[in-house]
Amino acid sequence: MRGRHNPRPRPSLASKAATDKPTAAEAPTTRAPRAGKRGPAAPTEDAPRRRTATAEMPGRLNRSGRPVKADPAAEPRKRPARTDAAPTRAPRPAPADSRRRPLPDSKPDNRPGNRPDNRPDRSARVATQRTHQYFASCPRGLEPELVLELTDLGAADPVPASGGVAFTGDAELGWKVNLWSRLAIRVLRRLAEGRYQREEDLYQAALAVDWPALFEVTRTLAVTTVGKNSPLKSLNFVSLRVKDAVCDRFRQVMDERPSVDTRHPDVPLTLFLSTDRYTLYLDLSGEPLNRRGYRVQAAAAPLNENLAAGMLRLSGWTPDTPLYDPMMGGGTLLLEAAMIALNIAPGLARHFAFENLRDFDRVAWARLRKNAEAAALERRPLPIYGSDIDPDMIRAAGLNLKAAGLLDCVRVMEADFLNVDPPAPSGVIVSNPPYGVRLEIDDPGAFYEAVGDNLKQHFPGWTAWLLSADPELPKRIGLAASRRVPLFNGPLECRLFEYRMVAGGNRRG
Ligand SMILES: C[S@@+](CC[C@H](N)C(=O)[O-])C[C@H]1O[C@@H](n2cnc3c(N)ncnc32)[C@H](O)[C@@H]1O
Repeated sequence: MRGRHNPRPRPSLASKAATDKPTAAEAPTTRAPRAGKRGPAAPTEDAPRRRTATAEMPGRLNRSGRPVKADPAAEPRKRPARTDAAPTRAPRPAPADSRRRPLPDSKPDNRPGNRPDNRPDRSARVATQRTHQYFASCPRGLEPELVLELTDLGAADPVPASGGVAFTGDAELGWKVNLWSRLAIRVLRRLAEGRYQREEDLYQAALAVDWPALFEVTRTLAVTTVGKNSPLKSLNFVSLRVKDAVCDRFRQVMDERPSVDTRHPDVPLTLFLSTDRYTLYLDLSGEPLNRRGYRVQAAAAPLNENLAAGMLRLSGWTPDTPLYDPMMGGGTLLLEAAMIALNIAPGLARHFAFENLRDFDRVAWARLRKNAEAAALERRPLPIYGSDIDPDMIRAAGLNLKAAGLLDCVRVMEADFLNVDPPAPSGVIVSNPPYGVRLEIDDPGAFYEAVGDNLKQHFPGWTAWLLSADPELPKRIGLAASRRVPLFNGPLECRLFEYRMVAGGNRRG
């Protein structure tokens, strides 16, 4: 295999200076034919196969699974007078186990929800000390790692479930997890849960929540319903009814109701439905947390940032060990690794939906952010290396690294992995090679065989962690995997394989 791919000296990242321009591409003089071609773009959020629908948005979602507004003009931020929202009869009793609170019987009242202006809400401080029930979603397969991460952040009682972890803590913990979690996709705060049979039960459950105490009427909202085995016919209709309930609750204490903005809501709500139970959440994150703000240049089939961070955690890599992604694409693994090595909080460059809630405490949040800024280590060259056969990917990774302020910390170069020398005598490779579903390869079997040969012959002392959904990889790579961790890359079921390259002893027996 080496003879086929290596008719010339092998380029090495070890001798290269750190890349100083996004377009820096130091191509070997000749190259083996490209093994990977551009394929369809990847999903950017873990999307298990479930039914999902958002109020006033008949079933349309954007690529990240967030609602897409059908007609922006149809939901202006300024509200016209409405006649459809106020209930004309007394609300029906809520399901027995919903957290119903008494409705005010006259107005105006003095509760925070009825405050006519934007004066600081003194009840917010009390509210921040309350214990909340949270659910942090994550790519499936990373739940045990998320339990550890949340525990480190101070979460109490973390309980893993499929696709996330439930935990408890005060309001500040919810903000802190948004700021610091590398693995979570969203942080949700539970508002109500119980049994349901019909849409009306869900309307009543939502009506029982004291929405005016949670956010001001000037905020926009959107309701997304996610159903797993729900018997209800239209999740869209459910989202509409829950939205109606929120608006009706406002109309009971004031003459206004919040507007809906399905594309960029200030207050996103998520309703989960199983066969007979509902859970209603405030989505504290808004944009999914994998949107760190550094991805300025799309790569073909990029990894989700939280999946990349999870792969690094699973690999046991520590920042003092050389790390190499030889098929780096847009450099997601390198960026996440550099942020881990420099202790950069992944949420520092973005905003969150919890900033729109009444219990948001600007002072406490400023302190959390300041602490995070102070905790970040000074930028410096790191033993983190990346390469790719595609010059466009060198450009993309460079632009992304530059956007993150990490260009001088990571070395990247253009190279065919089958023809490159290791950047250090030993270290950890973490990579997701191209595979059929995401990027077409002419002959995946031959490619994986060549990758296996290359690892064996040229990377003794290294451990390689390769993510693949391709059943060909374990069969053809010719190495014995010491671990296989099931992981989901969006809806794609994958395995993360660990291969330890011990000099002279890797052939599968
Ligand atoms: C699935 S993508 C990696 C995506 C990357 N993890 C990210 O988040 O952007 C696989 C990458 O392998 C690269 N590739 C394919 N064959 C290669 C080879 N022989 N040597 C180096 N890179 C190769 C492709 O150009 C592509 O960018």
